[in-house]
Amino acid sequence: MTAAVCPGSFDPPTNGHIDVIERAARHFGEVLVAVTANPSKKPLFSLEERIELLQGALSHLDNASVSSFDGLLVDLAREHAATVIVKGLRVPSDFEYEVQMAQMNQVLNRGLDTMFMAASPSWAFVSSSLVKEVAHHGGSIDELVPQGVSEALRRLSES
Ligand code: PNS
Repeated sequence: MTAAVCPGSFDPPTNGHIDVIERAARHFGEVLVAVTANPSKKPLFSLEERIELLQGALSHLDNASVSSFDGLLVDLAREHAATVIVKGLRVPSDFEYEVQMAQMNQVLNRGLDTMFMAASPSWAFVSSSLVKEVAHHGGSIDELVPQGVSEALRRLSES
C-alpha cells in the first residue's frame, strides 16, 4: 500500500487544497496531510487551528490523516514510510518553485518522488493569501473554502 504525503502551510486550507487531497486519497492507500509548523510567513492561524480546520474538512476520508512537522519534509516522509509527495499546481509559475523543492527532496531521499497534480479548473485561482485578503476586507469566501474555514475567518474579522 503506497503512502503519500500532501505537505503545506494550509493557512488556511482552501477548497483547492481539499480537492487535491481528496483526489490523492483516491490513488494512494494512505494520505498524510503534513502541516508545516514553520511557514515562511507568520501564519494567521496557529498550527493547532490549521490542523483542526483540515481535520474538519477531511473527516469524510477514511485514509487521510493530518499531522504537523517541524523539520525536513523528507524526514517526516521517512518516518511514515511515504514514498510520494503530492503537490497541486495551479498556474505555470507554481512549477518553478515546486520543481526545485521536488529535486532537493529527491536528492535528500532518493526513494521519495514528487508527483504534481493539476488543480481543478474551478479552484485554480484560489490561494490562501487571496482568501485571507478578501475575507479581511469583508468579501465573501464561502464558495472558496470549507465551511469551518469561512466560519473561522468570519470570527477573526469580527473580533
Ligand atoms: O503551502 P506551501 O507554503 O507551499 O508549503 C511549503 C512546504 C511546507 C511544503 C515546504 O516549505 C516544506 O517542505 N518545508 C519543510 C522544510 C523542508 O523540507 N525544506 C526543504 C524542501 S526543499
